[in-house]
Amino acid sequence: MSTILHIDSSVRAIDNPNPNHNSISKNVALKFINTWRQMRHTDEYIYRDVGMNPPGFITQEWIGAVFTPDEKRTSAQKEILVLSDLLIAEVAKADIIVISTPMYNYGMPAQLKSWFDQVVRINKTFDFDLARGDFPLRPLLSGKVLVTVTSSGEFGFEKGGVRESSSHLQPHLRTLSKYLGVETIYEIAAEYQEFADERHQTSVSNANNRAHSLATELANSASEASSAQCADHV
Ligand SMILES: Cc1cc2nc3c(=O)[nH]c(=O)nc-3n(C[C@H](O)[C@H](O)[C@H](O)COP(=O)(O)O)c2cc1C
Repeated sequence: MSTILHIDSSVRAIDNPNPNHNSISKNVALKFINTWRQMRHTDEYIYRDVGMNPPGFITQEWIGAVFTPDEKRTSAQKEILVLSDLLIAEVAKADIIVISTPMYNYGMPAQLKSWFDQVVRINKTFDFDLARGDFPLRPLLSGKVLVTVTSSGEFGFEKGGVRESSSHLQPHLRTLSKYLGVETIYEIAAEYQEFADERHQTSVSNANNRAHSLATELANSASEASSAQCADHV
């Protein structure tokens, strides 16, 4: 059995009275999740919509609590870290993480950044040691697969694309993923939403097809890996 953690972050709902207002990133991510769960229905599934229910921003008190050793934390400090502890436990448990996100102002929504700020935490997801020289941070989690689903109004954010220099969403996700223990990343992007033309339709359709085929491929690999593990134990 695997654990799949699904984080949505658009402020738009998946289903609205006017379908033109439906979140594209959430719908493409759902395609992935539904395909996966159909093939692997006994897997544990954890879901958070941080777009609709954003985690609070970190504060000076939060930083104070984080840098206080466990055994010295006051009950007020422990209370401040309850949400962070829970979100980190979900990440730690996950074998595969699916993050869907819109592009807002060329980067991720503040709501998703807030989730990362709660999750990427010293001595929980990374440690820090100046004995390592210029690269003192080291991730503490490992072996996870990340699938990112992004949606943007414009296009050309890929390497060599016309807006590569404005691309702060996927590069940021790639950098942060290391501190979630991610070792393999798959990226699915829907573009052209603001143009509402054929290019947009094609892009969304390709993203949905990719979500379906990638979920099938990864679910098959997960099943093969667990069969091999069972065979090893016989
Ligand atoms: C506040 C806001 C900021 C946006 N900024 C950008 C942007 O910088 N670049 C871009 O290509 N699209 C931008 N868009 C368009 C969204 O990325 C696009 O509508 C996307 O489909 C939203 O994701 P969703 O459909 O999952 O809600 C922005 C939309 C909003 C509402």
